[in-house]
Amino acid sequence: MPVHSLFPTRIYAASLPRARAAALNRRLLHECLQLREDDVAGQRWSKRSYPGGFTSYASASRMQLLSPTFAALAKQIDRHVARFVQELEFDLGERSLAMTDCWVNIMPRGVTHGLHLHPLSVLSGTYYVRVPKGAPGLKFEDPRLERYMGAPPRRQDAAERNRTWVVMPARAGGLLLFESWLRHEVAANAVNSERVSISFNYGWG
Ligand code: NI
Repeated sequence: MPVHSLFPTRIYAASLPRARAAALNRRLLHECLQLREDDVAGQRWSKRSYPGGFTSYASASRMQLLSPTFAALAKQIDRHVARFVQELEFDLGERSLAMTDCWVNIMPRGVTHGLHLHPLSVLSGTYYVRVPKGAPGLKFEDPRLERYMGAPPRRQDAAERNRTWVVMPARAGGLLLFESWLRHEVAANAVNSERVSISFNYGWG
């Protein structure tokens, strides 16, 4: 077909090596659950803004600077971010991108994370610490959706690149990276087990 694909939306999906992820996730899970116990400001914020769940987004949001375990994760993520930057052909000049924020999300059954984007950042992403079978993935929305006007819906069996939204599966040890302007959400966790993830932003270093 004589068709060009212009302005594609790129999503980077990778996994840490299995043994490394298993060891790291044991420690991360322990620290995430402990943080939920200790972070009173986070508990308060979550009660208002993340009902039923826990997030340290507004309280302990620079975990990479507070915990050696999170710092070890950040070091792993840095390498993937560097690859993604290459793939996106960003020209950073003399500057670089660095992790600016890194926080914990715990979603028990029924908790949802509504549609949002990450203002003031360049790249964002999530690393999955614990994903029970059947827990939701990360749903991305076509950034051009508000311009669609009379555009027809897409066929049920449309190719991934032609869909108006796509759910990327979440797996323990898995990592997703995307540009921070891309809207995304997590559907309600339908299983009776907690889904634990770590989200982060990269900005100009
Ligand atoms: Ni997000």
